Amino acid sequence: MVTFRKVKPSDVPQLREIASTAFKHHRFWLDKKLDPERVKEYYVKDLDRLVTASFNDPEKNNFLVAVEGEKVVGYIALRIDDLLTSTFRFKWGVIGSFALREGYRHKGLGSEMLKKALEWFVSKGASRVDVWTDSENIPAIQCYEKAGFRTIYSGLTLTLNMRRD
Ligand SMILES: CC(C)(COP(=O)(O)OP(=O)(O)OC[C@H]1O[C@@H](n2cnc3c(N)ncnc32)[C@H](O)[C@@H]1OP(=O)(O)O)[C@@H](O)C(=O)NCCC(=O)NCCS
Repeated sequence: MVTFRKVKPSDVPQLREIASTAFKHHRFWLDKKLDPERVKEYYVKDLDRLVTASFNDPEKNNFLVAVEGEKVVGYIALRIDDLLTSTFRFKWGVIGSFALREGYRHKGLGSEMLKKALEWFVSKGASRVDVWTDSENIPAIQCYEKAGFRTIYSGLTLTLNMRRD
């Protein structure tokens, strides 16, 4: 049975495993100019940053994990964004990362985690919650839409490669 709880330091090795392979729709995995080992490193560092924020500032950051026994099978990272909140004068929530292990996807677990996440945002008084995802990431988009999210903006990333080698 899968249950949900706050992250513990001992979860980090398993979380790194998930983060380093989960985001195949994201631009760094799709960019053949980037070294795949560095791409993995990027996701691991990003994960570490989000876990650390939840330990250092738990009022504004939360990191929930889904566990089956000792096995960590997914996570979601949440924050009340300081800059957006102080500028727009309402509590502005952001989902910073969200992933499940392969084999645990498309079984309703993501929707359950998202529900827990939204409960935390409600408890913090958030008026709005944003999440960024890739336009190709249909499972993620549908999971968010099922929870009531709607697309309000879709952007482009432009790159100029300055290196000649
Ligand atoms: C995004 C993710 C967390 C969603 O969790 P999930 O457990 O797979 O989602 P759910 O099973 O709750 O599905 C919710 C809805 O999304 C859609 N969906 C989920 N997986 C799908 C798939 N593989 N193909 C098509 N639709 C899918 C369905 O509409 C589903 O509702 P339904 O089961 O009633 O049809 C998970 O797929 C994942 O870890 N993906 C890899 C990491 C990632 O891309 N994270 C998103 C970063 S923004």
